[in-house]
Amino acid sequence: MLILSFESSCDETSAAVCEFGSPAAADGTSTTAFVPRIRSNIIASQIETHRLYGGVVPEIASRAHCDAICKITEEALEVAGVGLGDIDTVAVTNTPGLVGALLVGVSFAKSLAYSRGLPLVPVNHIRGHVAANYYDHPDLVPPYLALVASGGHTSLIHVHSYTDFETIGRTRDDAIGEAFDKVGRVMGLPYPGGAEMDRLASLGNPDAVKFPSAAVVGDNLDFSFSGLKTAVINHLHNCEQKNEEYRREDIAASFTKTVVSSVLKKLDMAVKLTGLHDIAIAGGVAANSHLRAALSAYCERQGLRFCMPPLKLCGDNAAMIAAQGYHEYLAGVRADSSLNAIPND
Ligand code: KG4
Ligand code: ZN
Repeated sequence: MLILSFESSCDETSAAVCEFGSPAAADGTSTTAFVPRIRSNIIASQIETHRLYGGVVPEIASRAHCDAICKITEEALEVAGVGLGDIDTVAVTNTPGLVGALLVGVSFAKSLAYSRGLPLVPVNHIRGHVAANYYDHPDLVPPYLALVASGGHTSLIHVHSYTDFETIGRTRDDAIGEAFDKVGRVMGLPYPGGAEMDRLASLGNPDAVKFPSAAVVGDNLDFSFSGLKTAVINHLHNCEQKNEEYRREDIAASFTKTVVSSVLKKLDMAVKLTGLHDIAIAGGVAANSHLRAALSAYCERQGLRFCMPPLKLCGDNAAMIAAQGYHEYLAGVRADSSLNAIPND
């Protein structure tokens, strides 16, 4: 089955053509293996535009999606070596995200599905991030525990089945990526600062400054990144007021160490609570090298299986939407022309 998918929830316009199903075995008999394959995954990033404003400007994002969507769809089909006539299903992110941005992808996908008489499958962006894991780990089968760490979300999710997600922990304020970006901004890094913070952290002393944990105290699986973010920003302002020099590398390393240990603390609680043995991470911050290394080491120590998407599938992209779209399709999820964008899931 070939799925043409769209993602436009924030500042990346993306279209992908992905193939799913059971290929024929060498002897001609069909196998039951689930073999997802990305035939194309085109991403038009708006980051350079939004960088001028230090963050995503929703109105500009919607207009940029409008400008890009036809072109990237043509490109996705061309790179995949297929035409619209070869597509079996259309999948699109319809929640959560910026409403005007989502509407561009939703309207485009609706029109396309309607004009070609194709099934239309709505996909939740967060579920899509998690499903990005299936390309490299097709044998990652629910139930498992997922940590979604992105610019807009931080959640611990008990994935009961491919289409049954239970959020068991979440941030009570800022998202993890938002905290990386805000601390980066105060240190003068261009938006979004997450990737550069990662690089700087590798060059700094993680024990230079002690910051407060982002793991909410008590018998819960929640995070609070706002207090940690404010503590780092206050520390930087204090240094400036006292004319004390600080190394950005040390701040990045100390902040990252605190973020990673906070995540590990709640993840460990979630593992003990659920008894799950398979762990997957997802979202833009899943690209963080320190988080990847720490979670991988933790899972190895505990005898747990650890899955993470390749770096190019951590950020927003349409291939992840196709992967989740496939499972939603199998579960019978369909949308008609009344499909709308839902900003909060
Ligand atoms: O998943 P994503 O592309 O968009 C949302 O759905 O939010 O995540 C973007 C976030 C940004 O905050 C960005 O700074 C962060 O992911 N990010 C990173 C790294 N690469 C991207 N944060 C920390 N370390 C990284 N290497
Ligand atoms: Zn995302």
